[in-house]
Amino acid sequence: MNASSAPLSIVRNTSDLRARVRAWRREGQRVALVPTMGALHQGHLSLVRFAQSRADRVVVSIFVNPRQFGPAEDFSVYPRQEAQDAAALASVGCDLLYAPAVEEMYPAGFATNISVSGVSEGLCGAVRPGHFDGVATVVTKLLLQALPDLALFGEKDWQQLQVIRRVVRDLDIPVEIQGEPTMREADGLAMSSRNAYLSAEERSVAPALYRILSETAADLAAGAGTTPLLDNAKAALVAAGFESVDYLELRAADNLEPLARAERPGRLLAAARLGRARLIDNVAVAAAEYE
Ligand code: PAF
Repeated sequence: MNASSAPLSIVRNTSDLRARVRAWRREGQRVALVPTMGALHQGHLSLVRFAQSRADRVVVSIFVNPRQFGPAEDFSVYPRQEAQDAAALASVGCDLLYAPAVEEMYPAGFATNISVSGVSEGLCGAVRPGHFDGVATVVTKLLLQALPDLALFGEKDWQQLQVIRRVVRDLDIPVEIQGEPTMREADGLAMSSRNAYLSAEERSVAPALYRILSETAADLAAGAGTTPLLDNAKAALVAAGFESVDYLELRAADNLEPLARAERPGRLLAAARLGRARLIDNVAVAAAEYE
């Protein structure tokens, strides 16, 4: 682990990254990668801390990936604050920051796209066409560039986590994928770099997403069917102040198949719009006991 007062080492190309990781692995050290798009918050830092408990060295990548943003999305205004992020990473003892430029990740002539069927479909995949291709492509590249033993992702992006697990399994990428529980503010709002888009008034509405998901998940786990429970939950979100709900659905936790009731471990997932922000969240739904 890096001494927390030492400035953080930063590399910007694959060969420097690989040289550092190779040297650690030659010494028998286990290496973890935490991929991010920067604008780091406590949720990211807790991923780093968790990675430190599972590995000897932790690399964090910061790359705002253009391929996972749609043409009308927030790529150009997505918060970029590398110096602040590097200081935060140094303070928690991260060993290395990998911060490639777009040209390093996607050099002229780049023509490969990783597309995952099944788990990518519906939910955010329906509302953000091409988003999960962009995620799958960049995460595959990051894993092959860093060649870590372990890579960690937050469970807030539950569908993304299942997409990444599928890619790693399907392409035999030799890395362990570890999902970590969502970090929340005191009022339950899931930590997200995009929370910065919320006005003070919107911020006071935002925790309703987690509250309504949790209440609905409890009803589902008690044996209720999705109809009309999910419609009522969407109406409750709008009544709480959200402008619209992109989706609120019960899916199987692992392969994201739609479920009409909680007959096996599920996940209740939602995305809803509030001002400039589109908030996503999800909660576990325990399997109900049916006669
Ligand atoms: O979750 C994110 O921050 C991004 O989607 C990821 C996994 C770093 C890929 O760009």
